[in-house]
Amino acid sequence: MNQLELIARLKPETAKIDAAMRQDLASIDSPRLKEVLEYAIFNGGKRIRPLLLILAARLCAPQAEDGPGSGLYRLALAYEYIHAASLLHDDVIDHAESRRGRATANRVWDNTHVILAGDFLHSRAMWLAGSLGGVDCLAALSRATAGMVEAEFLQLANAEEMSRSRERYFAALTGKTGLLIAAACESGAIFAGAGDELRRALAVFGNNLGLTFQIVDDLLDYLGDEGKTGKAVGNDFKEGKMTLPLLLALETATAPDRARLLNWLAAGSAEERRLALPEAREIIDRARGFTTARRQAETLTKEALEALAPFTGRPELSTLKALTAYVLKREK
Ligand code: FPP
Ligand code: MG
Repeated sequence: MNQLELIARLKPETAKIDAAMRQDLASIDSPRLKEVLEYAIFNGGKRIRPLLLILAARLCAPQAEDGPGSGLYRLALAYEYIHAASLLHDDVIDHAESRRGRATANRVWDNTHVILAGDFLHSRAMWLAGSLGGVDCLAALSRATAGMVEAEFLQLANAEEMSRSRERYFAALTGKTGLLIAAACESGAIFAGAGDELRRALAVFGNNLGLTFQIVDDLLDYLGDEGKTGKAVGNDFKEGKMTLPLLLALETATAPDRARLLNWLAAGSAEERRLALPEAREIIDRARGFTTARRQAETLTKEALEALAPFTGRPELSTLKALTAYVLKREK
């Protein structure tokens, strides 16, 4: 299945997810809250997490319930809500000005509105997971959400201490993105009544896919086209974030190149780093930081697909494979 076929295959599913979300948000009384949530949610997002939950459920039980009003679709919303809540909060934390080609919600309104809207989505997601997926789904989502918060703290510590440990980088990555995608896949399996083995297989697939997704995100932060990603290029370097291309470059760069990078990170201001970005990018490229990071993403993708071995022969597999290829090759 190529990318165009994948888009055609997933379009009706994303339309159903969006319909279920509109229906769910219709019950909100506060017009301002509704406005902020609609701005944050209906913005061309790829709906990867709810899609994975639905596909995982069908992989385990082909007859898994259908239709936007169904429990499966509504359970899937929980994952889009936590994702959207985390991005609302993340843009406040990162002082981000644009997301998906538009001003961030914190710029359109302010931090108070955005934090509260994120809190609403957080509680709504927990309610959906518990009421539609039972205690196991609630546990999976809660664990992943708590892990995301811990990962944010770890990322802060990594930046503050200028940690150059790849282990700590991967721990932050797992918490930020791996856990939630793993929990989405596992929740699909739980909803379909799958046993431990299949639940674990899907969680491993989701985690590896999530790590791939985030490494690609880190690459796009340096190399992406703003017109496509909808986000300012170079924000991670400006904020002093130690992401994989930078970590790898610090390991392999020549002594003068490494000293330059470390000097911007330790002594430079955010504005100085913004100005130094083209030069930093050249140094990272020379040290093969980008190439090696991409190779690691490719290895993780391979491991993700290997985890799906128990599902060999199932028709839904081609969609998951195409989605995995898309995550690796995406430009936005
Ligand atoms: C994006 O990272 C951020 C995340 C994937 C997770 C952030 C998580 C939190 C703020 C905790 C949320 C907690 C609750 C309860 C909802 P990034 O800044 O590297 O990516 P970006 O370039 O898309 O901003
Ligand atoms: Mg961010």
